[in-house]
Amino acid sequence: MLRTELANKFGAPVCLFASGREALFAYLKAINLIPGEEVIVQGYTCVVVPNAIHAAGGSPVFADIARETLNLDPESVDKLINSRTRAVICQHTFGVPSDTAKLREICDRRKILLIEDCAHVLPDRNGPEEIGGYGDALMLSFGRDKAISGITGGAVIPRNPSFADSLGSLEKQAVDLSWWEVLKLLEYAPRMRMVRNLKWTGFDKPVLKILKSLNLISLVVTDEEKKGFQSPLLHKIPNVCAALACWSLGNLEKTNDHRRQITNFFLGHGLKHGWPVLKGIKPGLPLQKFPLFVHDAQGKRKSLKKHNVYLDDGWTGCVVCPETVDLPSTGYEWGDNPEAEKACGQILSLPTHPTMTMRQAEYLARQIDTLL
Ligand SMILES: Cc1ncc(COP(=O)(O)O)c(C=O)c1O
Repeated sequence: MLRTELANKFGAPVCLFASGREALFAYLKAINLIPGEEVIVQGYTCVVVPNAIHAAGGSPVFADIARETLNLDPESVDKLINSRTRAVICQHTFGVPSDTAKLREICDRRKILLIEDCAHVLPDRNGPEEIGGYGDALMLSFGRDKAISGITGGAVIPRNPSFADSLGSLEKQAVDLSWWEVLKLLEYAPRMRMVRNLKWTGFDKPVLKILKSLNLISLVVTDEEKKGFQSPLLHKIPNVCAALACWSLGNLEKTNDHRRQITNFFLGHGLKHGWPVLKGIKPGLPLQKFPLFVHDAQGKRKSLKKHNVYLDDGWTGCVVCPETVDLPSTGYEWGDNPEAEKACGQILSLPTHPTMTMRQAEYLARQIDTLL
């Protein structure tokens, strides 16, 4: 069902895996990267992206971002392409569209592949038009906080048919996740709710630590992944997660519309109240979060905590996120991408997630007004 629905939506074959990072890894394996070949990826990304490149035998090369979109700067990409470059991965950071038309032109001219990482956003009938129509392949994530959520899961959609057969064989060889892993995934939300409810006692953090040490929590990014490792084993998406993702796909427009409504509110309010709004944020974008560049972002997050507003989202203080990643193992060298480095220190992202109400958004906007 999920496969058919996605294939109809994107007009191309679909290969399903247990996560977006596995789907990306599978595609990079299918194109047969050889050691020394390079894949360009942006600074200010999630560690699982360079990990997938390393696991497939390639080397990630980090290009700088455009400050106003938090996405790949096409000029920086063009300068990094050489005879070893096989592909560029463009990430539509937090739902802000990459300059896909320009990147497509560069990739065609330099005869390399363009992969669209759609982990943060999925277009619907109302766009964004720049997303999903330009890549040789699209990578989708059905993780917990994604536009389509199956708790876990991912897909790769090879729009360029060259590698579809090898990708199909890789999907056939994928193994099942253990029942224990699936159980942990399904239990994650109620278990975390229980931990959060302990906050008033002060025991939430120690209990979380114990649950983690007993391997009773399924982490979004594991300690091994933070050290640059991705398992070379591919897994099938569990049936229950595929069913959830399929149901969620049916609600995509509703989810995106909610995000559009909150994005439009922050955008309108922000422009009226002099917030430093990124120029890449246009009305009608279904943003996964609403980023701002501010002075002393960390200090502002701290003062918001006093008002029960928690804006730590794992995308602060890091060019390869989360902050606890072992940077040298990702291949990133400090100083490589000045704009990405500036962004990660200054970013303050406001949530737009499906459970957020307009009242909460208004409350948050008033808090931000007092801090800017
Ligand atoms: C930019 C980016 N790409 C890829 C992924 C991988 O997705 P998944 O968590 O499904 O492996 C993530 C994770 O959220 C991400 O942020």
